[in-house]
Amino acid sequence: MKAILTTGALLCAMTAFAQVPQLNRNNIDEVLKAMTLEEKITLVVGANRYVGDENGPGPAPGMPERKSVDMSGLVEQPKSDGVTAFSSGRVKGAAGDVVPVERLGITTMVLADGPAGLRIDAVRPGDDNTYFCTAFPIGSLLSASWDTGLVERVTAAMGNEVLEYGADVLLAPAMNIHRNPLCGRNFEYYSEDPLLAGKIAAAYVRGVQGNGVGTSVKHFAANSQETLRNGQNASVSERALREIYLKGFEIVVKEAQPWTIMSSYNKINGVLSSENRWLLTDVLRGEWGFKGFVMTDWWAEENGARQIAAGNDMLMPGTPHQYDDILDAVQSGRLDIRFLDDCVRRILQVMVESPTFKRYAYSNKPDLAAHAQVTREAAAQGMVLLKNESALPLVRKSKVALFGVPSYDTMVGGSGSGYVNRAYKVTVDAGLEAAGFRLDKQLAESYRDYVKHEKAKQPAEYFWIIPTVQETLISREVAQAAAKRNEVCVYSIGRMAGEGGDRTLTPGDWYLSETEQANIDLLCETFHKAGKKVIVLLNMGNIVDMGWSDQPDAILHTWMDGQEAGNSVADILAGKVSPSGKLPMTIAKSYEDYSSAKDFPMSNGNPGDVNYDEDIFVGYRHFDRHPETILYPFGFGLSYTDFAYSDLKAEREGDELKISVKVTNTGKRPGREAVQIYVGAPAGNAVKPVKELRAFGKTSELKPGASEVLTMTVKLADLRWFDAYEQAWKLDAGEYVISAAASSRDIRQNVTVTL
Ligand code: GLC
Repeated sequence: MKAILTTGALLCAMTAFAQVPQLNRNNIDEVLKAMTLEEKITLVVGANRYVGDENGPGPAPGMPERKSVDMSGLVEQPKSDGVTAFSSGRVKGAAGDVVPVERLGITTMVLADGPAGLRIDAVRPGDDNTYFCTAFPIGSLLSASWDTGLVERVTAAMGNEVLEYGADVLLAPAMNIHRNPLCGRNFEYYSEDPLLAGKIAAAYVRGVQGNGVGTSVKHFAANSQETLRNGQNASVSERALREIYLKGFEIVVKEAQPWTIMSSYNKINGVLSSENRWLLTDVLRGEWGFKGFVMTDWWAEENGARQIAAGNDMLMPGTPHQYDDILDAVQSGRLDIRFLDDCVRRILQVMVESPTFKRYAYSNKPDLAAHAQVTREAAAQGMVLLKNESALPLVRKSKVALFGVPSYDTMVGGSGSGYVNRAYKVTVDAGLEAAGFRLDKQLAESYRDYVKHEKAKQPAEYFWIIPTVQETLISREVAQAAAKRNEVCVYSIGRMAGEGGDRTLTPGDWYLSETEQANIDLLCETFHKAGKKVIVLLNMGNIVDMGWSDQPDAILHTWMDGQEAGNSVADILAGKVSPSGKLPMTIAKSYEDYSSAKDFPMSNGNPGDVNYDEDIFVGYRHFDRHPETILYPFGFGLSYTDFAYSDLKAEREGDELKISVKVTNTGKRPGREAVQIYVGAPAGNAVKPVKELRAFGKTSELKPGASEVLTMTVKLADLRWFDAYEQAWKLDAGEYVISAAASSRDIRQNVTVTL
C-alpha cells in the first residue's frame, strides 16, 4: 500500500509541477495565466518595497543613498504576501531590482543608472574586489560631437560594463530638450533641437543594447526643469509637444526600439506623465509601436492603479504602499485586472531577453583600460572651439601659466543619478604635463596646495553632492610675474550641476563671479601687455553668461569629459586632435534673450505651473527670428582648419529626399567637419520656423586638400508640421529650401525642391 501511495504522491506532485510553466520566450501568456494576483503585483512593484522607504516620494538633495536591498546573492524574502519572493540585490548600488517569482521561473532584473556610465557601488564591505566603472563624457558633449558613430562606440563600451557587472538595464539615455539654459540636468540632456537629440539617443541605445542589455530612455516627457519636478505642470500645446518635446523620443523608439522608457515626474497639461494613458499607450505604443515596458521615475509614488491603467508597467523602486494599493484596487474593482495583465506581459517580454534571465555568467571584469581610451578619444571629439585668434593649438612644450581652480580640480561629470563611481580622474594640469607642456611650477604648486587644503575641509564627494572649491582671486604681482615667465596663459571657468535643482541667475552660477571676472580682466591685461595669448576653458555641463567673450584670445568649451578629461583637453590644446565639436544649443547674448526666460521657474513666480508659451519657437527656431541676440549660434564650432562646401544636391526619390554635399579641407591642418542640413518649408497655413534641422553628418578626418561627399536622407514625412486642429501631420505643397550649413547662422549652399 505504502509503495502505491508514494508512487501516487509522486505522480500527483509531478503533475502539479508539470502544470506550473517555467517562463521562456514562447510561453509568456501561459505563465501569465498561471500567476496569482499577488505574483502579478509582485512583478510590477520594485523590490525596494521589502526595505520600504516610508518617507514617501521625492529624493531631496542630500538624501542618503537609497537603502539598498541589502541581500547579497539570492536571499529568501519574508513571505509577506504569500509568495516566495527572491530579489537579487546582487549588484550593490544599482537603482532598482525587479522581484522575481521563482515558482514560475521569473527572474529578477537589475536596473542601474546612468547616462555617463554605469553607477554601482565600486567598493563593497567585506568584498576585496572593486567594481569601478568608466566615467564617460556627459550627454551634452556626446551631442556636441554630432557623430552618431562615436556615440555608438562610447555606449558599446558602456553597455559592456552593464553586462559584465551583472545589470540588465541602463537607466539612460536622458534626452529632454534644453528648453532653458538654467535647467539643472541639461548636462545629461542633448540639445534644444529634437532631431539632434533623437538621433544621438538612438545611437546611444544601439550601442548599449548591442551588448544584449537594455536601456531606459528618459524622462518621458517634458521634464525640462528640476524645480518642483515631482509635481510641476508643463502647459504645452499639442503642436509643441509633438514637434519638439515628444519628437526626440519618437525618433529613438522608431529607430532603436529601447527595451524600456522611463516616464517623467512632472505633469503635462495637468496629467502626471506616469498616469497619462494618451502619452504612454495611445501615442507611445499606438502611434509609435513601442514594444518594451515603461517604468516610473524613482519614488514617483502617485496613484499606482492609475499608473498601471495608463500603461506605466513598473513602479520603481517600489514601496509597501504601492503593493497594497494595487492589490486593493484590483480586489475592489477600481483597477480592471486586464490592465495589470498587459503590464506583466510587457515586463515578461523584455525579461526573457535579459542577461539575468539567460543566466549570463558575468565576469565583474570589464576591460576598463580599453574603455578609458574610448572616453579619452570621445571627449576630444565633442569639445567646441568658440573663439581662436591665432592662439591654438599651442606650440609643443610651451611654458604654460595655468590658472583657475578647475584646471587643477577638473569637473569630469555631474551629480545625482548621473554620477559614476570611477577609479580616478585626470585633471587638466596632469593632462597638460603628460602631454609635455611645461607648467609654471610656482602657480601649479600654489593651486594644488590650495585645492588640497580646501578639499580637506569638505565632505567627501558622493553621487548626490560633489563639493567644489571656491575660485581664488589672482594678484597683480602673481599675474605679472607669470606673464614674464611663461609663453601662454590658460584659465578655466567651471560649473557643477546636478539633478534635483535648477541653476540660478546669480554671480558664480549663470553669471561669472566677481572673482572670475576680475581674474579674466587681470590676466588679459597683463598677458596682452606682455604680448602673450590668453585661453579660457569652459569646464561645465552647460553654459554661462558670455559677456566677457571679447576679452580672451581663445575660448574652448570642454564640457565635462569623464575620467580622462585632462588628457582629452591636452589632445586638443596640443593640436593632436583638431576640435570638431559644434554647439547643440544656442549661446545668446543675455539670459533674457531666451524665449523661455520669462516662463522658467524662479523667474515666473509660479514654479509649479510653467507655460511653454514660446511654443515651438525654442532654441534656434526662436533665434532665427531674433539673430541680433545670438552670441554663438546653434551648430557653431571652429576647427584648426577650414572647410569649403560644394556640389549640394537634393533629389526626391519616392518618399525621401537624397541629399549630398562635398566638403573640402581648404586649411593647413587635418580636421573633421559636422555638416548640418536645414530645411525651410513653405508657409502653407501655419506659422513655421525659418528653417529646421532635418539631417546632419560628420566627415572622417580630412587631410589638407582632401574632400569627402556626405550623403544624407530625409524622409518627406519628417518635413511635416503638426496640425493640432485637424489632429494630423501635414506636408504642405510648395518650395522647400534645403541648406547645407556649418552652423544655423552659416549657410554655405542652398538648393530648392518643390513638393
Ligand atoms: C532619479 C532620476 C532618474 C534616475 C532614477 C534612479 O531621481 O530622475 O534619472 O534614473 O532616479 O536613480
